[in-house]
Amino acid sequence: MCGIVGYVGDKACQQILVHSLKNLEYRGYDSAGIAVFEGDKLKTVKAKGKIDEGLVPRLLENGELKAVAGIGHTRWATHGEPSDINAHPHGNARVSIVHNGIIENYRKIKDFLIGNGYSFESQTDTETVAKLLDYHYNGNPLETIAATVSELEGAYSLGIIFREHKNKIYAVRKESPLIVGIGEGEMFIASDMTAILEYTKNYYLPEAGEIAEIDKNGVTFYDIHGNVIEKEIQTAQWDVTAAQKGGYEHFMLKEIHEQPAALKNTLTPRISDGMPSFEECGLTDEMLRNYRNVFIVGCGSAMHAGMVGKYVIEQIARTPVTVDIASEFKYRDPLITKDDLLIIISQSGETADTLSALRLGNSIGADTLAAVNVAGSSIDREAKMSVKTLAGPEISVCSTKAYMVQCAFMYMFAFRLAYARGKISAETCRDYTAKLLQLPDLIQECIDRKEQYQRVAAKLMNAVSLLYIGRGLDYALSMEGSLKLKEISYIHSESYAGGELKHGTISLIDDEMPVIAVATQTNLFAKTIANVEEVKARGAKVVLVCRDSAEVTADIADHFIRIPDTDDLLMPLVTAVPLQMTAYYTALDRECSIDTPRNLAKSVTVE
Ligand code: F6R
Repeated sequence: MCGIVGYVGDKACQQILVHSLKNLEYRGYDSAGIAVFEGDKLKTVKAKGKIDEGLVPRLLENGELKAVAGIGHTRWATHGEPSDINAHPHGNARVSIVHNGIIENYRKIKDFLIGNGYSFESQTDTETVAKLLDYHYNGNPLETIAATVSELEGAYSLGIIFREHKNKIYAVRKESPLIVGIGEGEMFIASDMTAILEYTKNYYLPEAGEIAEIDKNGVTFYDIHGNVIEKEIQTAQWDVTAAQKGGYEHFMLKEIHEQPAALKNTLTPRISDGMPSFEECGLTDEMLRNYRNVFIVGCGSAMHAGMVGKYVIEQIARTPVTVDIASEFKYRDPLITKDDLLIIISQSGETADTLSALRLGNSIGADTLAAVNVAGSSIDREAKMSVKTLAGPEISVCSTKAYMVQCAFMYMFAFRLAYARGKISAETCRDYTAKLLQLPDLIQECIDRKEQYQRVAAKLMNAVSLLYIGRGLDYALSMEGSLKLKEISYIHSESYAGGELKHGTISLIDDEMPVIAVATQTNLFAKTIANVEEVKARGAKVVLVCRDSAEVTADIADHFIRIPDTDDLLMPLVTAVPLQMTAYYTALDRECSIDTPRNLAKSVTVE
C-alpha cells in the first residue's frame, strides 16, 4: 500500500530510484514519482499510472536528471483520485516528501496551515505533512521533523529531503514499514527489502519515532529528543533472484511453481523427532495443553488459511477455534482472554487490520503467535511468539505460495496441538508429519498438469459470475479458490457450503452460471455429488475437482480437474494448486493485469 524508496551515493540516482520503485510496484500502482537534488534545487517528476506508462515516459521527456540523491514513491490512492497532482512526492521549493500510510488528523492540520497562509494543490493527506514540515522548518532538519511528527496522528513512513541539506535523506516511521539499506558508499531507504535486494542485503529496521539522518557514508538514528540511538545491522536471507520473474510470464505463475520448495523450506526446519516442534519460538507442549480456546485472525487469503486450520484443529485436536476477519475482530469485542491463544497470520506482517488485532490480543494478555513471511515486520516484532513462513518474497499481489505455507503452518500447529493434548499418539503425529513432507512432490505433480486447467479456463473465461461449492475442508479451500478467480480475472464468484445452496442461493443457478464443485473429502463426496446433481438439473455447467481415485461417471460433470491422492486431511494443500492455476489461466485468457489487479495493493497498511 504505497511504496517509498530513497538513494544517496555517488551514482546517478534516477535509474536506481525508478528500478527500486518497480520492485515495489506491487504495493500500489496508481501513480509514481521521484524528487532529487538537482543543482541547488529540488526537482520533482511524477505522473499518473504505472511506472512504465507514466513516470518513465515523463522522465524521458525531461532528460536524465543529474543527481546522486533523491526519493521516490509508487502510490495506492487513499486521499484523492489517482492523478498527476495527487502523485507523490509532495512539497515545495524547500522540502519534498514521500509517504506511505494515512494521516488521520490531516484536515485539522490543513485548516491550521491554510490559516497561516499556505495553499494546497492536491487532495492528499501527504501534502499537509510536507507543508507542516515547511511551517516548522528552522534550518535544523531533526528538530523540524520532531516538531512535525509530534503533531501527526495515524500511520506513516516518510522519506524527506530538504533543499538546504544537499544529498541527505531523512526518514521516520510510525506503523508503516521502513528499512534503511546499507551499501558501500551508498545508502537506501525502502518500504521493504525487495526494493533494494539487488544493491544490498544489509539493513537497519527503524523503530517507531526514530529519525534517520542518511548520507552516502552511513546513517545516524536519533530519538525524538535528538539523542543518538545505536542499532543492530540486519541481513536479509532472501536471494535477489527470488524477487525477479526468472523467465516466467508473471510473478504469480513463478510463485505457483515455487510452492514445492516453499513448502519444504517451511516444514523442514520445524520437524524434530519426526514431529512439528515450536520450541524455537517458545511454544511448549505445556502451553498448548493449557490454552482454553484458539483464535485465528487474518485478512483475505491469510484468513482462508486460518479457515483450513480451524477444520483441521477441531477435527484432530478437538479444541474450539474461532476464525476472524481481522477488520471484524477488533470491533466485535471478542471474547478472548489471557487463557487463550491468538494466532495471527500474515504474509507481509504489516496488514493494518491484522496488526490491530494482534495489539488487541497483546493488550488483553492472551498469548499471541504470529505466522509471518516477512522477518522484522511489525507483526513479527510485536507478537509474543513468531514463526517465519519461509516462502521467500511474494511479489504478485495475488497470494499463492504464501497461502500454501500459511496452511502448512496450520497443519503443523494442529498436529502438535493434538499430540500435546493427547488427542493423537506420537505415532499418528509422526505419520501425519511424514505425509505432510511428501506433499511437495504431489504439488509438483499438480503443477505439471497444466493442460487441464487451461482447458477449464477456456470454458470459464466468458462467465459473468460463478459459484464454488464444497463441504468441510473443501468448503474452506473453495473460499480461497473463489478469491483467486475474482481477484485476478474480475469474474464475480462466491464460495458456498454445498449443503447451504438450497437455502436461497440455488435460485441464481441457470445455464449462465458455472459451478466449480470441490469434492476431495471421502466422507462428504456423495453429499457434494448430490449438490452437483442439483445444480446440473437447473442448467449449470459443472467443473468437478476430485481425486484421481474418485469413481464418477463421465456425465456427472461437464469438465473434470483430477488431483493426486493423499490423506483426506491434507487434500486442501494439494487442491489449492489447481484452483490457483485455473484462476491464473482464466485471467490470462481475459488479458487481465495478473500481477497487479486493478484497485489492489499487496500490503494493506491502512484500516
Ligand atoms: C489475496 C491476497 C490478500 C492477502 C491479504 C492479507 O490474494 O493476497 O487477500 O492475503 O491482504 O495480507 P497479509 O497476508 O500480508 O496480511
